[in-house]
Amino acid sequence: MQGRDKLCAKLTSAFLRKWWFVLASAVILLLLGIVIAIFLGTWIRLFIDHELVLRPGSMTFEWWARPPVRPFVKVYVYNVTNADEFLNNGSKPILDELGPYVYSEEWEKINITDNENGTLSFHYKRTYTFQPEMSNGMDDDAVVVPNIPMLSATSQSKHAARFLRLAMASIMDILKIKPFVEVSVGQLLWGYEDPLLKLAKDVVPKEQKLPYEEFGLFYGKNGTSPDVVTMFTGATDMTRYGIVDRYNMRDRLPHWTTDQCNSVAGSDGSIFPPHITANDTLRVYDKDLCRLLPLRYLETVESSAGVEGYRFTPPEDVFANDEHNKCFCPAGPPCAPDGLFNVSLCQYDSPIMLSFPHFYLADPSLREAVEGISPPVPEKHRLYIDVQPEMGIAMRARARIQINLAVSQVLDIKQVANFPDIVFPILWFEEIVSQTKHSQAGGSRCREAASTQNTEQRKRLRTEQPEII
Ligand SMILES: *[C@@H]1O[C@H](CO)[C@@H](O)[C@H](O)[C@H]1NC(C)=O
Ligand SMILES: *[C@@H]1O[C@H](CO)[C@@H](O)[C@H](O)[C@H]1NC(C)=O
Ligand SMILES: *[C@@H]1O[C@H](CO)[C@@H](O)[C@H](O)[C@H]1NC(C)=O
Ligand SMILES: *[C@@H]1O[C@H](CO)[C@@H](O)[C@H](O)[C@H]1NC(C)=O
Ligand SMILES: *[C@@H]1O[C@H](CO)[C@@H](O)[C@H](O)[C@H]1NC(C)=O
Ligand SMILES: *[C@@H]1O[C@H](CO)[C@@H](O)[C@H](O)[C@H]1NC(C)=O
Ligand SMILES: *[C@@H]1O[C@H](CO)[C@@H](O)[C@H](O)[C@H]1NC(C)=O
Repeated sequence: MQGRDKLCAKLTSAFLRKWWFVLASAVILLLLGIVIAIFLGTWIRLFIDHELVLRPGSMTFEWWARPPVRPFVKVYVYNVTNADEFLNNGSKPILDELGPYVYSEEWEKINITDNENGTLSFHYKRTYTFQPEMSNGMDDDAVVVPNIPMLSATSQSKHAARFLRLAMASIMDILKIKPFVEVSVGQLLWGYEDPLLKLAKDVVPKEQKLPYEEFGLFYGKNGTSPDVVTMFTGATDMTRYGIVDRYNMRDRLPHWTTDQCNSVAGSDGSIFPPHITANDTLRVYDKDLCRLLPLRYLETVESSAGVEGYRFTPPEDVFANDEHNKCFCPAGPPCAPDGLFNVSLCQYDSPIMLSFPHFYLADPSLREAVEGISPPVPEKHRLYIDVQPEMGIAMRARARIQINLAVSQVLDIKQVANFPDIVFPILWFEEIVSQTKHSQAGGSRCREAASTQNTEQRKRLRTEQPEII
């Protein structure tokens, strides 16, 4: 009897005390777990934001200033194979799509100045190198293309005085300028001496002078850009991380009719404000595009390393001739047809029109006005950027644009009297940014770090960050 009492006492005291302890610990752990689960998301967010800010000297900064990526630009040129028939017999132009001519790029940002107000100012430096083994053809291949400086001058003279047009015709006669030129692919891209631009440089008053006497569609792009870009670092406001504050000291473009359309507040396509959702509209600013390009969520994609990304692409009506693009048509109506974007105000008034390759998303009559362009397919001709949504970093991109010349018929100038009103495609290109082996490793590690968060991985994240894009 006494032994049994002893046992009971033992049970209630030592045993039960232990039990209570275990139970209490479990409850505390459970509560702790709930609290961590609630706050972990916020902590990860703060942690990511903190790591992303472009602080001079930090790894993110080094990675941003000298991206460890090997981008390429692939150029496809439309060679005109029936120039004489087109001019003399009114045939449709027959185009032969040549290429790709592939250039590797090296990106760098130089002369970076910290403005101490949450922005950095810098210049882009891009170096292009022809890659013969990746190309289909050499960059000294001769191609026949419309004479863009000449046709720009004649199209512009349409509303000038008649005697000016006649004078222009005789000057072109003397200089033997023809509506089509035969140049190498390299010259078409990087520049050749043009007699008309050379003349203009000598005779036109200083204020209206074109800045150069060579003509090339990528002229001046190889090397350091003279433009000063001021960009938000995220130090003061993460919602503007990577967004352009000013371009050449201006916070808006002078060309369009509304403040919204004149805005330059976009990303350069490499980094975006983090924590992106499928509902967000991303905006990219590119000087040659002459506007912000909106991008919307298309689908969720996976990189080869298994990192999940959101694919963003321009909405189908981005270049539509409609109400929301009216602000981009200060001289209209009429405005550019569906699928074309008139950049002539950004191109010294030459009638350059941008579209997507093969007139993707454009009025089909544009493609049918010429022969030799196959119907567009989204997989080959759509522009897109894949971003890692939590960090807002581009993992993959295909920036695809076609350059066209909108020629107006001018009867007084005999050299082009037979050149009808037409949107003449010149070339298209795609700028390709893919993940490198290093960046894949970095990307997957960041995902791990973002999901598990231990100090060891934090350390790894910090050191590996420069390899992500
Ligand atoms: C481009 O077309 C012209 C004929 O108009 C031809 O002589 C030339 O060989 C073509 N270029 C290439 C690279 O095929
Ligand atoms: C123009 O068309 C005529 C008849 O339609 C043809 O005889 C002539 O060869 C063509 N000219 C050219 C340059 O193709
Ligand atoms: C570098 O930036 C500073 C300040 O923006 C400027 O004064 C200087 O001219 C720039 N140097 C070059 C080489 O662009
Ligand atoms: C930050 O400073 C730079 C240089 O002084 C200036 O151009 C820019 O407008 C400023 N940006 C903001 C948001 O204050
Ligand atoms: C770009 O410039 C670099 C050096 O400045 C030069 O080596 C390279 O050939 C140029 N690329 C092209 C396509 O002209
Ligand atoms: C996205 O937008 C739709 C409609 O505006 C809304 O119903 C949905 O909740 C939003 N989703 C997120 C994740 O914000
Ligand atoms: C393109 O824009 C310029 C400048 O606003 C204008 O003069 C020209 O008529 C436009 N072209 C077309 C085809 O709308």
